[in-house]
Amino acid sequence: MRIFYVLPCLLSLMLSIFTTPSTSSIDSFIYGGCSQVKFWPGSAYENQVNSLLTSVVNSAMYISYNNFTSQSQGSSSAVYGLFQCRGDLNSGDCSRCVDRAVSQLGTICPGSAGGALQLDGCFVKYDNTTFLGVEDKTVVLKKCGPSMGLTSDSLTHRDAVLAYLGTSIGSYKVSNSGNVYGVAQCTGDLSTSKCLDCVSDAVQRLRTECGAADWGDMYLAKCYARYSERGDHSRGGKDDDNNKNDEEIQKTLAILIGLIAGVALLIVFLSFLGKVYGKDREGK
Ligand SMILES: *[C@@H]1O[C@H](CO)[C@@H](O)[C@H](O)[C@H]1NC(C)=O
Ligand SMILES: *[C@@H]1O[C@H](CO)[C@@H](O)[C@H](O)[C@H]1NC(C)=O
Repeated sequence: MRIFYVLPCLLSLMLSIFTTPSTSSIDSFIYGGCSQVKFWPGSAYENQVNSLLTSVVNSAMYISYNNFTSQSQGSSSAVYGLFQCRGDLNSGDCSRCVDRAVSQLGTICPGSAGGALQLDGCFVKYDNTTFLGVEDKTVVLKKCGPSMGLTSDSLTHRDAVLAYLGTSIGSYKVSNSGNVYGVAQCTGDLSTSKCLDCVSDAVQRLRTECGAADWGDMYLAKCYARYSERGDHSRGGKDDDNNKNDEEIQKTLAILIGLIAGVALLIVFLSFLGKVYGKDREGK
């Protein structure tokens, strides 16, 4: 079944309204999507989805990747699921991230037969078709920084980072050269060769589609590759900086407006007092 990925910015806005704001970049929303097919409320399938997602949350307390299949008796339908934490997370952060991803899936995909959600630190997906072990190089999210952001020196470092990510073996890989940092990861269900094929595709796309941008994120359905200068892989982190600036500006504006309003009120009050006393004097 096809999962339709929705605009990440729209969704993160929705999520930030309906859920508590994320506190760390691990929880930063990257993308999410739901299948348009819905299940019947109260159906056996609904129970299967709920118990699968419960297993996902429980399992993430102990390991960073797992897959699940739920084929209940008396129901012809099956549901498959997996979660994958970012390779550098400790078990506490992995568990918290998956917990959050599952609850956000519930918010954005209520009643959907399938759904997928990527936060900065973890990925969770469930569906009624077997996607486990299947390579999928569909581009789900592509983001490039401002073009021509890299100097030719940095571009050389960027290409070295991407070359390493695209050719070395491993499910989670990090690399840096000079001031450029890169990271790539596959979901744990992919074999070594499928993972390598997926990441090299993502890397190739970064190179051609992001040009000399100073950062790039390429999320395919089963793997991703990202690079950036300064090693700030979290676009969330960069957005936070902007948000902080915006917040500062808003605060300053609010204080200014408050001050102006206060002064205006004071003037009105004083002129009122002046009139009253003026009249008093006139009266005398
Ligand atoms: C998945 O669920 C939809 C909706 O119930 C159904 O049409 C489809 O055949 C199912 N696919 C599989 C592989 O069970
Ligand atoms: C799914 O998990 C089982 C263990 O629970 C493991 O043996 C199997 O290899 C996994 N399959 C995939 C595709 O990751």
